[in-house]
Amino acid sequence: MNVSRYDERARGLNACMYAYYAQQIKESTGVISGVCLDAGCGGGYLGLALAKITNLNFIFLDISSAMLEKADTHIVEDGLQGKARTLLGDVHSIPLEEGSVNLVISRGSIPFWKDPEIALKEVYRVLAPGGKAFVGGGRGTPEIQAQIAAAMKARGIEPPNDRKHRDGPPNRMMKRDYNGILQKSGIPQFHVTKGNNGMWIQMGK
Ligand SMILES: C[S@@+](CC[C@H](N)C(=O)[O-])C[C@H]1O[C@@H](n2cnc3c(N)ncnc32)[C@H](O)[C@@H]1O
Repeated sequence: MNVSRYDERARGLNACMYAYYAQQIKESTGVISGVCLDAGCGGGYLGLALAKITNLNFIFLDISSAMLEKADTHIVEDGLQGKARTLLGDVHSIPLEEGSVNLVISRGSIPFWKDPEIALKEVYRVLAPGGKAFVGGGRGTPEIQAQIAAAMKARGIEPPNDRKHRDGPPNRMMKRDYNGILQKSGIPQFHVTKGNNGMWIQMGK
């Protein structure tokens, strides 16, 4: 992944997509204060969008220090020093205490997790009683995707081509049986949706 190009697009052309998912997360989970973990955060785009509409404190976790450098920069740009910190780590072994997080969010990272069952159990472990998780991936609604594609075209950028990336991580994610994985994990409360805004798993504790 080209970190700089990904980051530039996430903060620019794709910003509306993160704002859309942040709103969805706020409405679906109702968690607007406490601690939020953005797992596989990249440069922190989803959490940073959620910070604009909630009073949450953030931990931005990623396995890539290059991505976390971007997140650190954006935390300062968005004036979130004291409310947000970065954490280098693997979602399969989250370096946080059990029950220490009120909300776990994650977008676009789950297709890269080597063992989603272990990783989802980790997400559940760090949730506090009453906590919620909203984890998955997608590129927004068809309207948002069309808006981004038009903006890319106007700038002479080739939009993402699903056929070309037929066997890529996002398509693998859409095909995977997350209901089966979650049943096997023993996590008692979960809900999986697959639709034109992606694949999303919601969990409660
Ligand atoms: C496609 S990017 C998504 C970044 C960001 N969440 C977004 O929505 O733009 C996938 C991210 O997941 C991270 N990642 C992949 N495997 C991971 C793991 N096992 N633990 C933590 N982060 C991971 C990558 O380093 C990368 O930053």
